Amino acid sequence: MIVLSLCNHKGGTGKTTSAVHLAAALGHAGHRVLLADLDPQGFLTRTLGVDEPPPEQSSAVLFEMNRTLGDVAPVACSGFDLIPSSMALTRIMRSLNKPHDVLWAKDSLRQTTLPYDVLLFDTAAAVTVLSLNALVASGFCLIPVTPEHQPVLGAEQTFQTAKLVQSKLNPDLADPMFLLTAVDGRKGTHAAYAEMLHRVYDPLVLRTAIRTSTALSRTYSRGTTAFDHDLAGRGTLDYANAADELLRVVRHGGLRTAVTGRDPSLHATLDRVTPPDDADADAPDLPPSAPVWSPVE
Ligand SMILES: Nc1ncnc2c1ncn2[C@@H]1O[C@H](COP(=O)(O)OP(=O)(O)O)[C@@H](O)[C@H]1O
Ligand SMILES: [Mg+2]
Repeated sequence: MIVLSLCNHKGGTGKTTSAVHLAAALGHAGHRVLLADLDPQGFLTRTLGVDEPPPEQSSAVLFEMNRTLGDVAPVACSGFDLIPSSMALTRIMRSLNKPHDVLWAKDSLRQTTLPYDVLLFDTAAAVTVLSLNALVASGFCLIPVTPEHQPVLGAEQTFQTAKLVQSKLNPDLADPMFLLTAVDGRKGTHAAYAEMLHRVYDPLVLRTAIRTSTALSRTYSRGTTAFDHDLAGRGTLDYANAADELLRVVRHGGLRTAVTGRDPSLHATLDRVTPPDDADADAPDLPPSAPVWSPVE
């Protein structure tokens, strides 16, 4: 089973949107996908119109001694199954304060065989014991990042956290990958930060970028996503392409590179040279970045 965490220490960078739509894309492509909401605030669960279940039917079971995800009846969504979040995660997070408390999720997954090809963890926008558990239990990490100053800083910090987990706690974790999200082709700043990420982190930046799309930011009826409501839209096209690209990398075991990241001088340079966004507001929007997949009409 492929286990992948979506992380970025900065909020609002498209983690939850990516988790939902990658799950749907992979699911509609025929893979058996389980999506677990590890954010105590449960935005993903609510985005899918699912009520908070009792803790024993939520992702909180990962941190219980005698239960595993196999004991939870997942919520069937369109193309994938969901293990919802619970507010109990907040209490659990406070109680997990010993060094070995980062191992709960990994141990829990070892104790059960889940009938899925892919397990995705959506995490909160912070370095918490829950997100560390997700990284320790994962073979892969994807960092969704909108190409703007703060999300990029958050992404760089997350990259360093994932590399630390890889070197100290989980040698099976491949190098973290980046997914550019909510990219606006009319913004010069977006182009500049995207270019910077490629310069510092290639080949870890997926070629597919997710463009801004209203269909992706909407909430639909219970358990459905943009794939059910806007199949031919650019949001679904981009996530289908990203899922396809991601799967190709992951199936080869992911990447292990010499990339160390971090060149603070680049940020200073960028802040000086980046044109104001309205300078090119009339520029045409981006074409799809990687026309790998197109929806069946
Ligand atoms: N490609 C996109 N186009 C338009 N809006 C987006 C896109 N991706 C995310 N959003 C919106 O941006 C906000 C933050 O996204 P979200 O996935 O919740 O981020 P995170 O989980 O990292 O906090 C949400 O309102 C979401 O609907
Ligand atoms: Mg989120």
